[in-house]
Amino acid sequence: MDYKTILVTTNEKGFATVQLNRPQVLNALNREVMDELVRALESLDQDDSIKCMIITGNKKAFAAGADIKEMADATAVDMLVRDQLSKWDRIRKIKKPLIAAVSGFALGGGCELTMLCDIIIASETATFGQPEINIGVMPGAGGTQRLTRAVGKYRAMEMVLTGNFIKAEEAHQAGLVNKIVPVEMLLHEAEEMAALIASKPPVALKMAKESILKAFDTTIETGLEFERKNFYLLFSTEDQQEGMHAFVEKRKPKWKGK
Ligand code: CAA
Repeated sequence: MDYKTILVTTNEKGFATVQLNRPQVLNALNREVMDELVRALESLDQDDSIKCMIITGNKKAFAAGADIKEMADATAVDMLVRDQLSKWDRIRKIKKPLIAAVSGFALGGGCELTMLCDIIIASETATFGQPEINIGVMPGAGGTQRLTRAVGKYRAMEMVLTGNFIKAEEAHQAGLVNKIVPVEMLLHEAEEMAALIASKPPVALKMAKESILKAFDTTIETGLEFERKNFYLLFSTEDQQEGMHAFVEKRKPKWKGK
């Protein structure tokens, strides 16, 4: 597909990389970027040769948030009618694992986009923040909810109410980041992780992701029931047979993705 604001690459290892590509404005997430990002992720989600996706930016910025210039003169009615943030729900519905590879600024919507991903790998220069308070608003794409779940009430309050940024190390300590790597290793590290995930049985990957996400919007009892049913359901896949027999026969499994 033809994109103007993102670069999409796929490879034979079974994963794709989507790079946000508006470097002149630190990858500010305007309508066009969000349209293209959602379209690309949905199309990759339907592509059987792809098992996992990386979302990344450039050295200076993963993304510095929603495009402030685009929304500066909007009224509440404009915002409601555009309902741009509903696109974010479509990213939440992507079934394959998403890895954020973050260097530089991940602010506002940029930070919220990393938190829509399932694994966050950061370079030493990564900076996370929800600075919306400084421009008269508040996070609107999940920041008050996902950040709070990731780092707890007190850190989330401080970040959202002061607009202060946190560096990679603090984000890592707070549980917002899986690992920190030198900036020149960022993509390599994300690709290693993506290749490893892509080597696993795809149906089990999707169901495991779905079950973990369920933990965020249900009671433990309903979540455990959901998990158990997904676990049982996987026994209808050929990959369950293959995986368990390969273990018993002491050989490497060959996944069919069904
Ligand atoms: N929207 C539009 N343009 C942006 C932008 C944004 N979010 N962030 C940066 N830019 C543009 C700047 O206007 C500038 O463009 P010009 O060269 O045309 O002036 C260019 O990117 C480079 O930025 P700076 O010169 O400001 O770079 P810097 O290194 O001095 O500062 C920064 C970097 C601290 C990230 C600063 O750019 C900044 O504070 N950006 C805004 C961050 C922000 O407030 N994000 C939240 C947006 S609201 C949101 O995301 C709502 C939501 O929940 C969905």
